[in-house]
Amino acid sequence: MNQRVLTGITTTGTLHLGNYVGALRPAIAASRETGVDSFFFMADYHALIKCDDPDRVEASRQQIAATWIAAGLDTDKALLFRQSDVPEVCELTWLLTCVTAKGQMNRAHAYKAAVDAAVAAGEDPDSNVTMGLYCYPILMAADILLYNAHRIPVGKDQVQHIEMARDVAARFNHQFGEDFFVLPEAQVDAEMELLPGLDGRKMSKSYDNVVPLFEGGFAALQAAIAKVVTDSKLPGEPKQPEGTAFIQLWDAFATPAERQAMRAELQAGLGWGEAKQRLVAQIDKELGPMRARYEQLMSSPDELEAILQRGAERARAIARPFLARLREAVGLRRSRLLPGRAATAAPKAQALPLVKQYREADGLFYVKLTQGEQVLLLSPGFAQGREAGQWWAAVKAGGPADGAQLADAAQLTDALQRLREAEAAKAAQAKA
Ligand code: TRP
Repeated sequence: MNQRVLTGITTTGTLHLGNYVGALRPAIAASRETGVDSFFFMADYHALIKCDDPDRVEASRQQIAATWIAAGLDTDKALLFRQSDVPEVCELTWLLTCVTAKGQMNRAHAYKAAVDAAVAAGEDPDSNVTMGLYCYPILMAADILLYNAHRIPVGKDQVQHIEMARDVAARFNHQFGEDFFVLPEAQVDAEMELLPGLDGRKMSKSYDNVVPLFEGGFAALQAAIAKVVTDSKLPGEPKQPEGTAFIQLWDAFATPAERQAMRAELQAGLGWGEAKQRLVAQIDKELGPMRARYEQLMSSPDELEAILQRGAERARAIARPFLARLREAVGLRRSRLLPGRAATAAPKAQALPLVKQYREADGLFYVKLTQGEQVLLLSPGFAQGREAGQWWAAVKAGGPADGAQLADAAQLTDALQRLREAEAAKAAQAKA
């Protein structure tokens, strides 16, 4: 089995140059390696914990998705999706919640920080704590365990969450007597912390020292670099490059030869103004073409959506059958003869599910599959009856039910199976 590497980013803002150099660029490079299956997702359910501004959540998940694609993620190989497009993760969260000790959640750093802040402000300890925040690590564990990811590249602040995911996985495996879950490992790259911001401290939104990645365009890049703090040496005076924010930014975008050359020029008196102009050009050599792709994706939301829907379908193709196994394991099973019970009357043959193709008041064609009162499957609307027919033929043959509303995947599979069997029996009879 390939190594599965999983990366999640909470969608509450946009990405900056530090995210690009520290996380995006290495992750995208790693996703191209053979023997690796990469999963990238927008943690938008997590965003709801931190952010109560719906428009911001909406904008951010779109911007971050576009950023990943623009930065070169190959979405035919790597899996890119939004967390909330795979609602199975919520169900898994519940299964995990039921084996997670409350005491362990009490020790989570993010929760403790919120409590400390409230206490320091003289408030009730839990006044800033929603159940979302409190259970944040369980949702995160579900993100990881749902795909049985091996390796999770994260910053230091997230290591505790990965350890909690391991613990929860081990407890579940133990309790239900099988190795359902891989125990994930955090991968902390020193590189992730490295890029300094405008003021020389680590680049971070909370320090207000970031260089934006794509938002604001070239002008924003230029304006930010102009603000990189330097000493006040004039052009012509020799400068000491080592350790400056400037040279670290330069290094992140330069070849070894270019790194040497820039040091020599600064020591020989190159002015900061001129050096910064070169830095802007150097960064833009790499980012310029990506920014163009970003702008294009942000102005064609349908294209972006199609990529994300495809990613979600691939993710669900993994999540659905796995969750079916887990439901079985914990006892959420379909009715069957319980141990020690004898079957009485022969079961009545179950009526076949009913397929109906019809045109709705909206002028579109739909296919509906029902069993008694229950709707098992409702297709998306099609402009042509023929398209609806083709869609149904593909689903009946076992293909993905793209865009459909379905009641229950297991029930649908079962109904399709019975339909196919009935049709095969009929065909055999007609031949005889
Ligand atoms: N908690 C992570 C962060 O704030 C985001 C995240 C959510 C995540 N689910 C994840 C990261 C799963 C890795 C794996 O950065």
